[in-house]
Amino acid sequence: MKRLLIIGIGTGDPDHLTFQAAKAIAAADVFLIVDKGEAKHDLARLRHDLIEAHGRPPYRVVEVRDPERDRTAPAYTAAVEDWRSHRARIYESFITDELADGQTGALLVWGDPGVYDSTLAALEEVEAEFAHEVVPGISSISALTARHRVALTRVGRPVHITTGRRLAAEGATADDVLVMLDAACSFTEAGAGFHIYWGAYLGTPDEILISGPVDEVADRIRGARAEARARKGWIMDTYLLRRTSPGS
Ligand SMILES: C[S@@+](CC[C@H](N)C(=O)[O-])C[C@H]1O[C@@H](n2cnc3c(N)ncnc32)[C@H](O)[C@@H]1O
Repeated sequence: MKRLLIIGIGTGDPDHLTFQAAKAIAAADVFLIVDKGEAKHDLARLRHDLIEAHGRPPYRVVEVRDPERDRTAPAYTAAVEDWRSHRARIYESFITDELADGQTGALLVWGDPGVYDSTLAALEEVEAEFAHEVVPGISSISALTARHRVALTRVGRPVHITTGRRLAAEGATADDVLVMLDAACSFTEAGAGFHIYWGAYLGTPDEILISGPVDEVADRIRGARAEARARKGWIMDTYLLRRTSPGS
């Protein structure tokens, strides 16, 4: 049987890697790195660094070029499904052509494989015989709350995890909303009465943290985001919106 390890690597700090993830990297014979293009070069480099630091030779690295999905496409769900099927074919070729029976392959997934990541869903579409295991990683959610020194949850209260696109369409649908994948600074849609804990490039040397009442810090976040994005060519940011006086 062929084996595939889906390993969460954290959000940019090499020290985010858990001992379990380091052991999983050491157990792999072949790694698949899907290169998303120049703009995300830093992200690919971290994967190479982690393999060099924790891989146990002899191992092989297989690289496949797959440009990032167009997140501005209006038919969002269809675009995601297309992209997922395309990824499934890449994984299928990797398992079929690059792994021998008894060998272990590994995919290094940004953050935690269970948080807004399509790897597991794409693997469900793969038509090849293989066993797989998932190694959890530090997600940008954990990185964000830790760096701001706040808890994700308030006592006995729920948290709504959502995307910038949905926040823009629906507004804040809970007292505590964790927002990811926001290319448009949709936090202004939350309205007054919210505190924001915002973080970009969490866990990396470029990390930026800003927090405060949304109406007071929104412009500062927009400015810092635009400047950093222009300088680096890409940005990943996450934020927690917390209603200051929640309903009971
Ligand atoms: C495709 S999702 C992947 C999430 C990832 N699986 C995780 O566990 O964090 C990409 C989004 O995660 C968030 N993100 C990932 N890494 C980040 C980082 N280092 N700093 C801030 N946000 C990050 C951003 O909201 C980004 O748009």
